[in-house]
Amino acid sequence: MIRTKILGLGSYVPDRVVTNEELAYLDDQHVRQETLQTETSDEWIQKRTGIRERRYVPNDGTWSTSDLALHAAKRALTDANIDASEIDCIIFGTLSPDMHFPGTAVILQKKLGIDKTGCACFDIRQQCSSFVYALQMADAFVRTGMYKRILLIGAELHSHSLDYTTRGRDVMVLFGDGAGAMLLGPVESEDPRDGVMYTSAHADGSGAMDLYLGLFDIAHRPYLFIDPKDRETNRGMYPQMDGKRVFLNAVRAMVMSTQAALANTGMSWDDIQWFVPHQANLRINEKVVEVAKIPPEKVLNTIQFYGNTTAATVPLTIDHWRREGKVKKGDRILSSVFGSGFTWGAAIFTI
Ligand code: ACO
Repeated sequence: MIRTKILGLGSYVPDRVVTNEELAYLDDQHVRQETLQTETSDEWIQKRTGIRERRYVPNDGTWSTSDLALHAAKRALTDANIDASEIDCIIFGTLSPDMHFPGTAVILQKKLGIDKTGCACFDIRQQCSSFVYALQMADAFVRTGMYKRILLIGAELHSHSLDYTTRGRDVMVLFGDGAGAMLLGPVESEDPRDGVMYTSAHADGSGAMDLYLGLFDIAHRPYLFIDPKDRETNRGMYPQMDGKRVFLNAVRAMVMSTQAALANTGMSWDDIQWFVPHQANLRINEKVVEVAKIPPEKVLNTIQFYGNTTAATVPLTIDHWRREGKVKKGDRILSSVFGSGFTWGAAIFTI
């Protein structure tokens, strides 16, 4: 029987480390100023979110989301010992695409030098849940024999689209730049626990306006009706969030999808080495761990160092702890995610 195996993994974060202390002094170009720009503090951010620092790309106008993805993809290709020309499908998850259209997968395809191979390119828009949605797609494609070398990417460049003022502080402090990549392909196996064992993906569109960015509002004419310099109207350039509703729904959905993953596969925490939740907020993850009774020593987080990198968080976190020597080849992971939409899901897979 054909099952889907994870052939390689890679991630990338930019070099610039922005601490909570520095964040308060950044202007809208994220250049440090002498005077305070945002009323916030290291104490508030750490207490409410667990975040200590995040990474930002240089603000010289040369970096796009696809560049972050390219670095992560190259590392995953090296890890899998696969040449880029073998890729027959790219699935790219991001909420910060290089441009409105075309999708970022084709831009990455060109940067990988495989634009003439004709490989299929998908962009998916499930925000913080993109990894599980993409894994479900990849698993279905591989099992049916549709594609044999799938590059799954989650990448985000958030630092250029945040409101670096007290008005935007609830959202601005949360996000960082980064990318994660996985290569997936078929393996012949009769063991139902091999490779990608389980995926579930869900959505509830009634939560759409609890976390959104309304910049391209196609109902309006013109659909871009923002003066970027006008503080009255430029709110629409930045993500808007009802933090409390996101928090409550995230905990509920991540607990339920984690419990369902175990129930539907007949697995227990004895069968699973690591729990890798989406990295939105350390307090969300601590609550999920408490309510779902997950052994705390099995939980992997990276939000402290990278902030919320949205579609990238799960592969980035796995790769981070693999490089630290914690995660080993053959380990089984349960991942649970929640994001804007609302969207959520869970997956069990062997790395
Ligand atoms: N620094 C200092 N003060 C702040 C900041 C900040 N960065 N942000 C908000 N505040 C203030 C508020 O203005 C408010 O002040 P007030 O009492 O004078 O009105 C006070 O802090 C408390 O604000 P609340 O919104 O009640 O704070 P809360 O405890 O809900 O924490 C937070 C806010 C951290 C955003 C929380 O709601 C949360 O974690 N929500 C989950 C959202 C999330 O994780 N989103 C990630 C993206 S979505 C995803 O990845 C799934």
